[in-house]
Amino acid sequence: MRIVVGVCGGIAAYKVVGIIRTLVLQGHDVQVIPTDEALRFIGAPTLEAISRNPIATDLFDGVAEVKHVALGQSADVILIAPATANTIAKLANGLSDNLLTNSVLASTAPLVIAPAMHTEMWQSAATQHNIATLVDRGAHVVWPESGQLTGSDVGVGRLADPEAIVAAVASVSGARDLAGTTVVVTAGGTREPIDPVRFIGNRSSGRQGVALAEAARDRGADVALIGANLEVPPPVGIELVPVSTVAELRDAVLSRAADADIVVMAAAVSDYRPVNVAHTKMKKDAVGDDVSIELTANPDILADLGALQHPRPVLVGFAAETEADADALAALGAGKLERKNADLIAVNRVDDGRGFGTSDNEVLIVGSGSRIVTTVDGSKRVVADAILDAALTERP
Ligand SMILES: Cc1cc2nc3c(=O)[nH]c(=O)nc-3n(C[C@H](O)[C@H](O)[C@H](O)COP(=O)(O)O)c2cc1C
Repeated sequence: MRIVVGVCGGIAAYKVVGIIRTLVLQGHDVQVIPTDEALRFIGAPTLEAISRNPIATDLFDGVAEVKHVALGQSADVILIAPATANTIAKLANGLSDNLLTNSVLASTAPLVIAPAMHTEMWQSAATQHNIATLVDRGAHVVWPESGQLTGSDVGVGRLADPEAIVAAVASVSGARDLAGTTVVVTAGGTREPIDPVRFIGNRSSGRQGVALAEAARDRGADVALIGANLEVPPPVGIELVPVSTVAELRDAVLSRAADADIVVMAAAVSDYRPVNVAHTKMKKDAVGDDVSIELTANPDILADLGALQHPRPVLVGFAAETEADADALAALGAGKLERKNADLIAVNRVDDGRGFGTSDNEVLIVGSGSRIVTTVDGSKRVVADAILDAALTERP
C-alpha cells in the first residue's frame, strides 16, 4: 500500500521516525512530505533513510509532473503525524500553501490525523472547531493523549501512542477480510523452571507471533495473543494472555480453540521439562560439578489441537529448521503437518542468525498433500499476512 506521511513542525516530529519504520517493515511504500517547519525539528536524511524513499518538500519541484496532484492521487492513505494546530487549521479551511496541504486537497484517500501540541493550543476554541470540521468531513483522528508535554507541563496534547497511530492507518485502509473471525495466536518462547532462578528456554522473541496478531487485528479479526515471555510489546487492541510454561500455554490455547476460526501456533514451545523443580535455588556447592537434570516430554499442543473434533479451527503450525535445502525444508514441513493433523505448516529457517530475534523472516508454507502453498521472504509483518492469506484459503 502507498502511504503518504505528512510531518509537521512540532516537537513530536521525532516520534514519527518509529511510525514510518513500522509502516515500511509492514511492507508499505511510504512517501514522506515534511513541512518546512518539520525540517527544523527533524533531518531530511533520517526521513529518507527510514522511509527508503526521497522525501518531497517543495511545491515547485518537479512541476512538469504536477507533483502535489500526483502524490495525492497515488496515496492509498494519508497520515499526518504530528499534525500541528497550524496545519489542522489550514486543512479545515482548505488552504493549500505548501506541498503537504496541496497533496491532501488533491487526494480522495482516507486521511488520518494525529495531532500533538500544548494543552492550551489543543483546547483552544479555534483548534477544537477546526478538528471537528475535519472529523465531519470524514478524517480519522488519533486523539492526543494526556501526559508529560515539552518542558515540565502535564496535560492533554501529547502525540498518541505510535502503535495506535499505525493501527489507525491499518484500520482505515487495509483489507477487512478477517472481519467477524476469531484468531488465536501463540507467540514467544516457553520457559520450564529448573529452580526459582533457572529455566529451560529458547531464543524466540515473539516478534513473528506479535506481527501475526497485529496483522489479524488490522484485517478485522478478534484476536487473542497467548504470549510466552514476549521480548517485544504486544499490539494494542487485542486480548493478551501472558503465559510462561508449556502447561500454561496449552491451557490458554485449548480453552480458546473451540471458539476460534484460525489458530496459529507461532510460539516456540519446549519439548521437555524437568521432572523435578527445585523450590529453592540449586547451590553449586550442594550439587557438585556434574549435574544431570532429568527431563520428561511435554504434551504436544499442536497434535492436541489437530485431534479436535471437526468443525475445528484452521490450524497453522510452525517448524523452525536449520536445513538450507528447500526440498528438505518442505519435506520436514509436510511430515510435521501429517503427524499433527495440521492444515498448514510454516517452516522457517533459523540457521545463520535467521528467524530468531530479527525483524525479517524466511518462511515456506506447506499444505496438505506436501503442497508448497507459498514461500515468503520479508519483514515479519509481510510473512504474517502471507500466513493469514494461506489460512483464509483453508477455511471451509
Ligand atoms: C520549539 C517549538 C515547538 C513547537 N511545537 C509545536 C507542537 O507541538 N504543536 C504545534 O501545533 N505547533 C508547535 N510549534 C509551532 C509550529 O512549529 C508552528 O505553528 C509552525 O508554523 C507549524 O508549521 P507546519 O504546520 O507547516 O508544520 C512549535 C514551535 C516551536 C518553536
